[in-house]
Amino acid sequence: MYKLAFIGGSCESIAGYPHFIASQMDRRFEVVSGVFSSNKETNKRTAQKWNVKSYYDDIDDLIKYQRDNIDVISILTPTPIHIQALEKLLKLDIPIICEKPLVSSYEDIRKIEKILEEERRFLVVTNNYSGYPMVRELKQKILNNELGDILHIRLKMPQESFLRPPKSIKYPQKWRLQDGFIPMISLDLGAHLHHLAYFLLAEEPNKVMATYNSFSKYNVIDDVTMLLEYESGIKGSFWLSKTALGNRNGLHIEIYGSKASAIWHQENPEKLEFSYFTGQKTIIDRGSDIEMVPNPLYHRMTPGHPSGYIESFANLYNDIANCLDDYFLSKSFNNNYVFGFEHAKNGIKLLHNASISNQNQHWQINNNLI
Ligand SMILES: NC(=O)c1ccc[n+]([C@@H]2O[C@H](COP(=O)([O-])OP(=O)(O)OC[C@H]3O[C@@H](n4cnc5c(N)ncnc54)[C@H](O)[C@@H]3O)[C@@H](O)[C@H]2O)c1
Repeated sequence: MYKLAFIGGSCESIAGYPHFIASQMDRRFEVVSGVFSSNKETNKRTAQKWNVKSYYDDIDDLIKYQRDNIDVISILTPTPIHIQALEKLLKLDIPIICEKPLVSSYEDIRKIEKILEEERRFLVVTNNYSGYPMVRELKQKILNNELGDILHIRLKMPQESFLRPPKSIKYPQKWRLQDGFIPMISLDLGAHLHHLAYFLLAEEPNKVMATYNSFSKYNVIDDVTMLLEYESGIKGSFWLSKTALGNRNGLHIEIYGSKASAIWHQENPEKLEFSYFTGQKTIIDRGSDIEMVPNPLYHRMTPGHPSGYIESFANLYNDIANCLDDYFLSKSFNNNYVFGFEHAKNGIKLLHNASISNQNQHWQINNNLI
C-alpha cells in the first residue's frame, strides 16, 4: 500500500474528501500525512476527523519530517498555486498526483517543462471523468470502429453554480473569482472537456474559435463556447457554463460517427446510449455483455447497484497505483488511463489559444506557444 500525503484538500474543500475516499477505497493507498489547509484550525480538524496521525502547517515541514515516510503526494490546493508545490516537489523527486488542471497558465507550463527537461519524474494529473466504466467502454467501442469514422464530437459541462451556488459548501471561493489570461471557468471545466475529447479521439484540435461571456454578478467569464477543428476532419464543440440554471453538473458527451452515435451523461453515468445507422437504438450498462465487464474494479457491487463519481475516481487511483508499481521498478510507466505532463501541456495550450481567439474574434491555430 502506498503512503500518500495531501497538500490542500481539507475537510472543508470540494476535492479533498473524494480524494481521501477514492485513494483508499481499494487499499492501494493510505493517507498518512498532510498540509490539508492553509488555515491551522481546519488543518488540525481535518487530520482529527479523518484520523490521520501526522499533519503540518506548511509544505517544508511536511517534507522535512515525512520525506522518508511517504511514497507520493496529492496536490489539491487551489489551481493558481499548484505551481508552488509542484516546483518544490519536482526538484526533490517526490512522486506527484496533481488535481487538474496542472497549472493555470502557459508560463507555468514552461516552468514545469524546464524542470522535467533535466530529469524524469513521476507526475500525473487526476483527469477523473475517464475513470467511469462507461466512458472507458465508449473509448473501446471507438477503437473497435463500432461508430465508424468519427465525424463530430459535442461536449458540454454546464453548471448553475454562479447563479445558484450549492448550499452544502462556501461557493464560489475567492480564487475562483479571479480570471487570468485563461479564465478560471476554462481551468475548472474546460480542462475536463479537453481531456475527454482527447481520451476519446486520441487527437488534439488544430484550430479553435472561442467566445467568452459574463452573465453573473461576479464580473468574471462564466460561459464559454468553443468550436474545434481537427487535422483528421473531425469537428467539435465545447460549451462550459456556470450560469446555466437547472444544471448541477451537466457534463455530457455526444459523439457522432458514420455508423453510430453515442451519448453519455454524467448524472446518469451507468448508462451509455447508442443510435445505429440501421435506426436501432440501444442502452448498455455494467450488466450488459460489454468489454469492461472482466475488470473486477468496475464491479465493486453487482450491476443494478449504482456506482458513481467516487468509484470512478477510485478506478483512476488504482491505475495510478499500477503506474507507481512500474515507476518504482523501472522509472517509467505506460497506462491508457493515466495522463501526465504532455497531456496537461496540450490542455493549457488549447485553453490559451481559445483566449487569443476570443480576443481577436477569429479562428486561432492551436499551435505551440513560445
Ligand atoms: N476533478 C474534479 O472533479 C475536481 C473537483 C473540484 C475541484 N478540483 C480541483 O481541485 C483543486 C482544489 O479545488 P477545491 O474546489 O477543492 O478548492 P477549495 O478552495 O475548496 O480547497 C482548497 C484547499 O486547499 C487548501 N490550501 C490553500 N492553500 C494552501 C497551502 N498553501 N497549503 C496547503 N493547503 C492549502 C485550502 O485551505 C483548502 O482546504 C483545484 O485545482 C480544482 O480544479 C477538481
